[in-house]
Parts: sequence; structure tokens; C-alpha cells
Amino acid sequence: KHPIAILISGRGSNMRSLIDACAQPDYPARIALVLSNRPDAPGLETAREAGLNTVAIDHKPFGKDRAAHERAVNAALRDAGVEIVCLAGYMRVLTPYLVHAWQGRMLNIHPSLLPAFPGLHTHAAAIAAGASTHGCTVHLVTDGVDEGPILGQADVPVLKDDSPDTLAARVLSQEHVLYPAVLAQFCETLDTHQ
Ligand code: GAR
Repeated sequence: KHPIAILISGRGSNMRSLIDACAQPDYPARIALVLSNRPDAPGLETAREAGLNTVAIDHKPFGKDRAAHERAVNAALRDAGVEIVCLAGYMRVLTPYLVHAWQGRMLNIHPSLLPAFPGLHTHAAAIAAGASTHGCTVHLVTDGVDEGPILGQADVPVLKDDSPDTLAARVLSQEHVLYPAVLAQFCETLDTHQ
């Protein structure tokens, strides 16, 4: 099984869906580490309760030195023997250092149908733009934020009375299906190219 790390900053519901997938005997990945840049992230507690190896590397003591924070993150990933990094609501923009260290091995889930609505507040943006379809994307992480090659997408309708919250909930339930499916496929691609 491919050892993965899941990087979170908050709730960790996508992490939960990956934990559940990895618990299946025939799933091609296993969780080597759950890492958060926020020591108080509720998802960290979920991961601990699931008996997973967790670490918090708070970005705050590093101040403006993003590179130093990322060196610490990278060291933790290497120490845990990680092969694939899954960003799951990890709300830090990465510098080229970490992106290049994991080139081709770092996935992110984003709550829109990229290239539409990169960045934050995607659900409000989709409603404001009058989009009839919205959704989520899993992509490889590259230097441009939310710009890497798309590995998979799932779409949902935007309903007439949607608020950003009702739309977010509809998208989130698709995220929970999409991420484990795309990760499994990604692992299989690695296997056939090794
Ligand atoms: C998810 O909707 C994820 O797509 C989004 O944050 C949420 C995290 O929820 N990610 C981004 O916006 C990345 N820029 P979760 O902690 O419950 O998985």
C-alpha cells in the first residue's frame, strides 16, 4: 500500500473520507501521517481517535518565514516515509520549495470545477456568477495556485434557492466520494509506471 500523508487545517471531513477508504482491505493507500498547521484543528482529534500518527506544525511561531515552516513540514513527511501528499482543506499557500519537493506526488481537493473559481469563497462566487453547475476538483499541485493538472471532477447542480452553505454541503458530499476514488486511481497509475 502506498503511504500517504493528509494535510489539514480544520474540520477534516475529507480526511475522514480518506481514513474510511484506507480502512478497506483492498484500498491501495495507507495513512502514514496526518499533519496540521493548526494545533487546534478538530480534524487532528478525529485522526488521533482513529489511532493515526499525527503531528501539528504550527505556522505561527515561524512568522513570515514560510520556507522554514515548510522545511519542518517536509522533514515530518520524510520521517514518516510518505510517498503521496494529500492536501485536504490545508489552508496555506505553498511556496515553490514544498511544491517542487513533491512534484507529481501532491494532490489537492478544491471546491469548484477548476479552472472556474480558484481561490476562496468558491460557492458564493459560483452563485454570483449564475453558474448552473458547480462541483469539486482533485488536481496535482503545481506552482500556480489551483492550476495543476486535473485528475478528477464531480459536478452538482446549482439550485435556484441555494445559499453558499447549501451549495457547499452538496459539493462536500461529492468531495467525499471523489477524493478517495481519484487517490485510488492515482496509486494504480503509479503502480503501472513503476
Ligand atoms: C473542503 O471543501 C475543501 O475542498 C476546501 O476546504 C474544505 C475543507 O473541508 N479546500 C479549499 O478550499 C482549498 N483551497 P474539510 O476540512 O472538512 O475537508
